[in-house]
Order: sequence, then C-alpha cells, then structure tokens
Amino acid sequence: MRIDVLTLFPAMFQGPMTESMLWKARDRKLLDLRLHDIRDFTTDKHRTADDIPYGGGGGMIMKAEPVVSAVESVLADAAPATPVILMTPQGRVFSHRIAKELAAHEHLVLVCGRYEGIDDRVRQLVITDEISIGDYVLTGGELAAMVIIDAVVRHIPGVLGAFWAADEDSHADGILEGPHYTRPPVFRGLEVPTVLQQGDHGKIQQWRREQGLRRTWENRPDLLLRAKLTEDEKYLLARFADEMVK
Ligand SMILES: C[S@@+](CC[C@H](N)C(=O)[O-])C[C@H]1O[C@@H](n2cnc3c(N)ncnc32)[C@H](O)[C@@H]1O
Repeated sequence: MRIDVLTLFPAMFQGPMTESMLWKARDRKLLDLRLHDIRDFTTDKHRTADDIPYGGGGGMIMKAEPVVSAVESVLADAAPATPVILMTPQGRVFSHRIAKELAAHEHLVLVCGRYEGIDDRVRQLVITDEISIGDYVLTGGELAAMVIIDAVVRHIPGVLGAFWAADEDSHADGILEGPHYTRPPVFRGLEVPTVLQQGDHGKIQQWRREQGLRRTWENRPDLLLRAKLTEDEKYLLARFADEMVK
C-alpha cells in the first residue's frame, strides 16, 4: 500500500513511523510511506504557505495553491479513484470500520492542516473524503494522519505477526476484547483465571467472548446497541444487569 502525506511538518513523522510495526511494514515493502513538505510547492522566495483570513479574525489560513499543487503532484501517477483525505475535526469520525475500508485501497493521500485550517477551495477542488479522529481540536493534522496510518496498516495482510489478530481485537466485531494475562500465574495475590491455564480451546474461546461482553457492558454499553449477539449472549447481558441491581 502507498500512502502520501502532505504536511508542513514532515519531521514530526520521524519516530512513530520508523519504529515497531510501522518500520516492519515499510521494511517488508508492505507500506510505501511518502512524506511531502507542502512548502516545496510554494512559489515565492520565502516559501509562504499561509496567509491572513478573508473577513478578519485571528489565526492564519493555509494557502490553497501549494496544497493543490502538492495533491496534483502526488496524484500524477495515481489510479483515478485514489482517496484524497483531509484531516479535519469536521470530518466523519474515524473508527475500526473506516480503518478497514481505507486498508482496502492500494493508495491513500492524507492532507494535514495547520493554524486555523486550509483555504476551503482545497476541499472543494481536490478532497474526496474528510476524517476526524475525535470530537476535539488538535493543533495540526499530523497526529491524526499518524493515528490513521497506524490503524490502517494493521489491516494489511502480513503486517501483524498473526494476521487474524486484527480481527480479534476490540471493535472488530462490535464489542471490546476481554482481558489478557501472561506469566507468572500468580502476581501479588492475583491469579490467572483457571480456564486459561487448563488449555481447553473451546472453553477458552467461550470465556474470552463472555469477558469481552462483560468489558463492553462495563465500559462501553453504547456499543451493545449495534452488536450482533446470540440469544445466549443477550441472556448473559441480562445476568450482568441483574448483578448490578443486587
Ligand atoms: C487548529 S485545527 C483547525 C480547526 C478549525 N479551525 C475548525 O474549527 O474546524 C488545525 C488543523 O488540525 C487538524 N485537526 C484538528 N483537529 C482534528 C481532528 N479532531 N481530527 C483530524 N484533524 C484535526 C486539521 O488538519 C486542522 O486543519
């Protein structure tokens, strides 16, 4: 998969994009990450990428010309349907489902804003999608782009040690994952649940599903409204509700 990132601060990507899974994905040629400095697409000697807002008000606005030139440059050899995604608190809210949807593309272009944002004509002319990583405002789109890259890349076959793991994580099937344990079997008086130590795979699967449901019930009950549950699982939820009342 190829991801082009357009930013005024490409150095911010050093570290997060050069360690662990992201490094492995790039090393194995599963991810071709290309960082582009929007200032390289300015045309004046001061490399001006921002200007004052029309209509007054505080803050600066990123100029349309360099951003549009940068997008057109990275799209020069791209497939016609390549998504060009604006990082913005005004976009659709990023999720597991959107990460999987984006991972199905061969190529993505991510555009990072700064200051008060980007001249809206960029959105009108070259943006095909707008994504927010949550209902709060960051100082720039770079961290949002890194979050999206990290979450998308996990879905590229071969990136995770065991590829199926991405489909067992929280949110994959609408609920949260249950707890994990590793050795020692007892730590400060807390014992690893017996079922995990006994090695009966069927029982372990059932226990994990139940624990995932319990976590979801306790931490994110809103998810249960949309989760696909069996009759037995609905009964289990009723039991959790009873426990709360008692
Ligand atoms: C200070 S913000 C601008 C916010 C803009 N004035 C508004 O109220 O919608 C600067 C840049 O950070 C990025 N950004 C801020 N919050 C974000 C979020 N929740 N998700 C994705 N990108 C965000 C966007 O690229 C934005 O252009």
